[in-house]
Amino acid sequence: MILEKAMIDDKKPIIKIENLFHAYGSRGNKIPIIENFSLDIQKGKVTVLIGPSGCGKSTLARLIAGFEKPDSGCILMDGKTVRGPSPERLVVFQESALFLWMSTLKNISFGPDSRGESSSCSENIVQVMLEKVGLNAFSKKFPTQLSGGMQRRAELARALVNDPKVMILDEPFRGLDAMSKALMQQHFIGLMANSLISCVFITSDIDEAVLLADQIVITTNRPLKVAAKLDVTIQKPRATKQLVESDEANKLKFQALEILHKEAMKSFASGSKAAEDFLRAYAIRNN
Ligand SMILES: Nc1ncnc2c1ncn2[C@@H]1O[C@H](COP(=O)(O)OP(=O)(O)OP(=O)(O)O)[C@@H](O)[C@H]1O
Ligand SMILES: [Mg+2]
Repeated sequence: MILEKAMIDDKKPIIKIENLFHAYGSRGNKIPIIENFSLDIQKGKVTVLIGPSGCGKSTLARLIAGFEKPDSGCILMDGKTVRGPSPERLVVFQESALFLWMSTLKNISFGPDSRGESSSCSENIVQVMLEKVGLNAFSKKFPTQLSGGMQRRAELARALVNDPKVMILDEPFRGLDAMSKALMQQHFIGLMANSLISCVFITSDIDEAVLLADQIVITTNRPLKVAAKLDVTIQKPRATKQLVESDEANKLKFQALEILHKEAMKSFASGSKAAEDFLRAYAIRNN
């Protein structure tokens, strides 16, 4: 039976993060990066984490992915403690992580190939995915022969062929020009429509957050905590143009910016350079 998005039990979180604490540095000189962080990631939903630069978002992504272990607290997936990486929980990184020596096709089939799952069935899945991301004409090209947007699409495809339950997308469209970013966002919306994948999408772009999220989680500056949660109930699929004229979207943006601004002010008062940069960047939008 094919499960429809509407049929899944979205009351039970797929990921439960409880009282997370993580610090970097040597003993006696530990800097807390994440502190007292608790969050439920709902099944089949897009949870967007937004916070200022350097606040610990990628650190959180690595902990959820299982690349690092938290100092204390826990991350549960389907009730079981996350103890390491798994194809059920895949990351699309903020920097391109394609293998430069592999063709697009080989990059995308990397997961099934490395698990020894090469079969006509997995080859079919790879072909379908190449088509879905519009890269079939580029299957033999190498990453350096692809545009930035194509590379990002190849990365999405490389994760999606593994049929993950959870995708952690760490600012996946950062660094793209405005046009490519808008195209990628629409592409992502298309790929996720009716998908059962639960996404943790990290961004520092409030417009992107409102466009994609079921829930926006605003984080504090370092150490990372939950500052606020906003549900986004605007009907999906959404389009950037439609949101420009939507009172609901603009109200949400305003609310989120106010909270972000307050957080930045607090950090600014305590002498944080990241907060100073953040305030400068966001001042334009708040005028
Ligand atoms: N492996 C590490 N060892 C020591 N410090 C680290 C390590 N990784 C990150 N940090 C520090 O942790 C803090 C948070 O970094 P992180 O990359 O998680 O932030 P971020 O919110 O993802 O930033 P950005 O918006 O720039 O991507 C930074 O001060 C960074 O220098
Ligand atoms: Mg980061």
